[in-house]
Amino acid sequence: MSHAPLRLAIAGIGTVGAGVVSIVQHHAAMLRQRTGRDIIITAVSARDRTRDRGVSLDAYAWCDDAIALAQRTDVDVVVELMGGAEGAARQLVTQSLQAGKHVVTANKALIAHHGAELSEIAEASNVMLAFEAAVAGGIPIIKLIKEGLSANRYERIIGILNGTCNYILSVMERTGRDFADVLAEAQALGYAEADPSFDIDGVDASHKLCILSALAFSTVPNLQGMHCEGIRNIGADDILAAHELGYRIRLLAVTVQRPEGIELRVHPALMPQENKIAQVTDVYNAVHLFTSHAADMFIEGRGAGRDATASAVMADVIDIARGHTMLPFMVSAQTLARAQLVPLDAFDSAYYVRLRVRDTAGVLAELTRCFADHDISVASFIQHATHPNQEATIILTTHITTEAKVRAALVDIKALSSVVAPPCMIRIEEE
Ligand SMILES: NC(=O)c1ccc[n+]([C@@H]2O[C@H](COP(=O)([O-])OP(=O)(O)OC[C@H]3O[C@@H](n4cnc5c(N)ncnc54)[C@H](OP(=O)(O)O)[C@@H]3O)[C@@H](O)[C@H]2O)c1
Repeated sequence: MSHAPLRLAIAGIGTVGAGVVSIVQHHAAMLRQRTGRDIIITAVSARDRTRDRGVSLDAYAWCDDAIALAQRTDVDVVVELMGGAEGAARQLVTQSLQAGKHVVTANKALIAHHGAELSEIAEASNVMLAFEAAVAGGIPIIKLIKEGLSANRYERIIGILNGTCNYILSVMERTGRDFADVLAEAQALGYAEADPSFDIDGVDASHKLCILSALAFSTVPNLQGMHCEGIRNIGADDILAAHELGYRIRLLAVTVQRPEGIELRVHPALMPQENKIAQVTDVYNAVHLFTSHAADMFIEGRGAGRDATASAVMADVIDIARGHTMLPFMVSAQTLARAQLVPLDAFDSAYYVRLRVRDTAGVLAELTRCFADHDISVASFIQHATHPNQEATIILTTHITTEAKVRAALVDIKALSSVVAPPCMIRIEEE
């Protein structure tokens, strides 16, 4: 193992980049003691040189062109913290790996879109491509899958991988307030971006799930064909009804290895209140892993934020400093299989359905007929008292059935003259 200093270049000194600089500056002695060598920064890059980033960068070479970091001779590890699946981030990572430099990144979009190709380059150059911080921020979930549980076959992974959505759903649950109102508050508090679509439409969680699934099942990261649905349609009514039925609503990221293929889906779901995942609140993330030998394992922690994410970035840097190298996806990129995804139509679940109807005689009979026509048996029914001839909200849950049948029943229900708004359907995840 080398005792020479490990020299970092950091591309992107934003939230996470400044956190990484701060750890390197304030914990130098601890890092030396734990790795047996100094970890130093030699060069940095960001767009605006004049911006105050809350950390001193005076001792480092400044590069206006981040991609030039790939060719510097005073750099062993390029730490990419700019973000984005294409552009500067992709070019810098590709060129750094080709130039024989290790790369550490927090960029889930880049790994979800180009993970296999970058992994092949890293292998060919015999360097590390590490991305612990790309999934679930400070939770060391990638290390757990690649190292601690590496003797196991993975069966199923269920995660809460987006803190913004979890915060919004938890506050809606605590206060009874509606989605738009809580989203506006999350934006004011800095928990949601000005354009929140990446988070609330499930895209961010789908990038992270794609990476976990690829690691666990040794497949090429694949976003195509993944079911991705966000939380925009969840109303205060749903949170309340879920509570009455003994559930909580969470944005789940789920991947399951089935004999017929892999399930890969991000969507809101009702979960029993006593389930560990259902009890994760606010901006926290959690992952529940089901394995062949270690049984199930649950891990919860901060999924984002400067310090938690920088902690994960530095865990990868420390591995490199110690000379612990490992293949990015645990197995050679050449051996990653093309995942055969199970279509959602074949997905078995119980379902929650919210309907807005004209509260007239015979409505209930019409609704139950639509379900019966598609061989769906109704498990429970809630209607809060309304005045005759006014609109009412009806909540139904079904016994286990297939998604195709529920979708077909909802097409018929939507066409009924007594139904005044598009039905809202949410899957029920019992465990
Ligand atoms: N924030 C989190 O909690 C978190 C958690 C997990 C993963 N991540 C991932 O970590 C990465 C960084 O996120 P962040 O929140 O730190 O982002 P950020 O605060 O927006 O910082 C991005 C940094 O990259 C720089 N940058 C952008 N494009 C550049 C270019 N073409 N050339 C040079 N510099 C460029 C920016 O420069 P200027 O400052 O000059 O504009 C800024 O310093 C992303 O991949 C993100 O998905 C973030």
